[in-house]
Amino acid sequence: MDYRRLGSSGLQVSELSLGSWVTYHNQVGTAAAKEMLAAAMDSGINFFDNAEVYAKGQSEIVMGEAFKALGWPRLNYIVSTKFFWGLDRDGNAVNRKDTLNRKYLMQAIDGSLSRMGLDFIDLVFCHRPDPHTPIEETVWAMSDIIASGKALYWGTSEWAAADIRAAWEIAERHHLRKPVMEQPQYHLFHRSRVEDEYARLYEDIGLGLTTWSPLASGLLTGKYRSGVPAGSRGALESMGFLTKSLTDAAKNAALTRLEPIAADLGATLAQLAIAWVAKNPRVSTVITGASTLAQLKSNLGAVALLPALTPEVMARIDEVTSSLAE
Ligand SMILES: NC(=O)c1ccc[n+]([C@@H]2O[C@H](COP(=O)([O-])OP(=O)(O)OC[C@H]3O[C@@H](n4cnc5c(N)ncnc54)[C@H](OP(=O)(O)O)[C@@H]3O)[C@@H](O)[C@H]2O)c1
Repeated sequence: MDYRRLGSSGLQVSELSLGSWVTYHNQVGTAAAKEMLAAAMDSGINFFDNAEVYAKGQSEIVMGEAFKALGWPRLNYIVSTKFFWGLDRDGNAVNRKDTLNRKYLMQAIDGSLSRMGLDFIDLVFCHRPDPHTPIEETVWAMSDIIASGKALYWGTSEWAAADIRAAWEIAERHHLRKPVMEQPQYHLFHRSRVEDEYARLYEDIGLGLTTWSPLASGLLTGKYRSGVPAGSRGALESMGFLTKSLTDAAKNAALTRLEPIAADLGATLAQLAIAWVAKNPRVSTVITGASTLAQLKSNLGAVALLPALTPEVMARIDEVTSSLAE
């Protein structure tokens, strides 16, 4: 496992990392989470991604319990959370849902710390843009959270390039803590934001990327080619919104053409797809997901594949997938 700087910051993140969306609480309890975190750490992963909204706070509780059981030195791992959708969305929740206002953010960090049982969180993200709160208010609040010591670095997730630049410039103007990283979706079928929209930000503001869904929620494993398999993410009732994209005929047909490229390298489709994301030097870390230990261990094989992704292999992959990519 190699390590990369998170943008222009001094923080070194493992090129692959592990996230808890969908899985923790819904598919994986504390004992299995502990086992997977341990396997990830053994292989060199040092970053674990979470969010307040995952399983309505339960994902942070599961991860916190697993950390406690593992007893790792706090220096050895990096953990994140993200804020936007809010918990307790019912009743008079106008100021604590779908927002990045100061009141919500300053209270959200305390909730995450308490659920995870930690003194500080390494990376905190504004999980989505909030067009109804001035960016300046959000920047001040995130900067104050960093200054309080409750978190170490802050960033955004799925923000437009113009908004990320605006946040950075506000922080620069007022000598506040600047956003360091963005968390965008990035995989073989979803490329333009990372490759085009953000292109100027990498050099101009030193933006780092912690990218998500390298397998497009499992599509890129090839397992949706004959429909939605039982027990998969696509079969979960709560994930019904994914069915259309997971069973997309053209994309699934392309995977059958991608398979021989993976086979030539002695790799699985999933390993090829994950390695392809990591091959982009703008990516600081590829956040992977796994619902079983076997998936995690297999996916970790992507690291060994990186040197085999020569320009010729990348061109073969492009030929099959680029016309289908957004
Ligand atoms: N910032 C954001 O808005 C955002 C959004 C989404 C995700 N994320 C982060 O990114 C992380 C990764 O995203 P993701 O979970 O969508 O990643 P992904 O790699 O696209 O999908 C992972 C899922 O694919 C299936 N899978 C993985 N490896 C497999 C294998 N070898 N064989 C068969 N199936 C396999 C598993 O689901 P099943 O076994 O259940 O089918 C697994 O949970 C999340 O945990 C979260 O931390 C962030």
